[in-house]
Amino acid sequence: MIIALNHKSNFTKEEFLSYLTNYKALNSYNHDLLLFPSSCYFPLITNIIFGSQDVSCYQEGSYTGEISAKAIKSLGATYTLINHSERLTKLNETLDISKKKLAQALSNNLIPIICIGDTKEEHDAGTYVEKIKKDLDYLLEGIDKSKEFIIAYEPIFAIGTGLIPTNEDIEKVTTMLKDTYHKQVLYGGSANEENIETLKQLKNIDGFLLGGISLKLPSLQELLNKL
Ligand code: 13P
Repeated sequence: MIIALNHKSNFTKEEFLSYLTNYKALNSYNHDLLLFPSSCYFPLITNIIFGSQDVSCYQEGSYTGEISAKAIKSLGATYTLINHSERLTKLNETLDISKKKLAQALSNNLIPIICIGDTKEEHDAGTYVEKIKKDLDYLLEGIDKSKEFIIAYEPIFAIGTGLIPTNEDIEKVTTMLKDTYHKQVLYGGSANEENIETLKQLKNIDGFLLGGISLKLPSLQELLNKL
């Protein structure tokens, strides 16, 4: 399975270095661990597969503070997250911006993990499968579908809250994603060492995108032990 670890905006340099030492000692049981730390720490990384949490929607030039996909690739990253819901809800980005970022990632040979999710209102209204397909179709419009990318279903209301939909509800999305796009599919949102035994029974998933638990290596090891 793919186990992608999104650190979000956590860790100082010292904390990250100590994490890295212990991370390398994890028993992954041959699952593919992918690390998404703050991009300022990329030069500290050796011998692990990593990606960025974001890329600029611009190729290069006068865009103060932006980090281009080209720069990220040049530091050895393999993957990038695209369209994480925190960028939409907390940083006011839009699907149009994500679409440009996706194009930048692909043209710079970064493998995008495209995040897609529904709100609690959409979920409760029962319109979420259609809404997710609509958003994803919009993001992928004009993109060469034969390119390598991964899709991560992250219900927005499940991120950091412990409010995970039922496996049956998650499978409505993951089955649609598999049948429509024929790509690897991850689940993300409050997955941890306590609920992994339930979540690993999900049909049509190839792994997990983990937030909070990715910061706590003993809990992450426990999750890996149960996978
Ligand atoms: P949590 O695992 O903390 O809910 O975060 C999930 C996430 O946003 C991963 O990208």
